[in-house]
Amino acid sequence: MNPVCFTITPALPRHLAKLQYISRRTFIEAFAKDNTPQNLIQYLQTAMSRKRLGSELANPNSQFYLALNKETAIGYLKLNWGNAQTEFSHPHWIEIERIYVLQKYYGTNLAPALLQTAINAAQQQNAACIWLGVWEKNSRAMRFYQKNGFLAFANHPFTLGQDVQNDVLMKLELAHSETTNHFKRK
Ligand SMILES: CC(C)(COP(=O)(O)OP(=O)(O)OC[C@H]1O[C@@H](n2cnc3c(N)ncnc32)[C@H](O)[C@@H]1OP(=O)(O)O)[C@@H](O)C(=O)NCCC(=O)NCCS
Repeated sequence: MNPVCFTITPALPRHLAKLQYISRRTFIEAFAKDNTPQNLIQYLQTAMSRKRLGSELANPNSQFYLALNKETAIGYLKLNWGNAQTEFSHPHWIEIERIYVLQKYYGTNLAPALLQTAINAAQQQNAACIWLGVWEKNSRAMRFYQKNGFLAFANHPFTLGQDVQNDVLMKLELAHSETTNHFKRK
């Protein structure tokens, strides 16, 4: 596939509508087939309501990034540090809570660019490692992280509607050096 053209920009409060659109659409594309409509709707209505996303956008310990093709959102990234992390609250760790791209862009340069954005942000904050939780049934995402150097180290529960699922926790230890490109596609 030809490389996709996009820009990655930190999301601002004025991007709330775009953020909600891309959050919901990518979540449905990825997970509707493996979850009940009730659980999916409940999750979208709570975790991806305007109110919740607006408050997360305003949290100084979180940062969303939007991938824009012209003005259209085609993917996004959410980082948490400090007490915004969903586990640990480790002062020197950064969590990738979400990397989501539209299904039509799977397998392109888009997800690697979002991951590199996360790594760059973590290095700017001198973070020791980046960690994330991924659903144990999400083999594609696990393969994506694994081929980019992440290793599984624990598990934690993730509740989707009424369904308590098992997330595999993965982390990437960061080397602090002069170079900024710390992961290579294989
Ligand atoms: C996770 C995500 C960002 C990865 O981006 P991507 O463009 O799909 O990633 P890539 O294509 O570079 O890598 C996926 C790898 O999984 C492989 N793969 C595809 N389907 C697979 C499957 N069912 N089982 C195992 N591996 C699979 C691909 O072949 C590829 O590996 P390869 O490069 O060795 O061939 C993207 O798939 C996405 O947005 N998914 C939905 C949201 C999501 O799951 N986010 C992560 C939540 S933690």
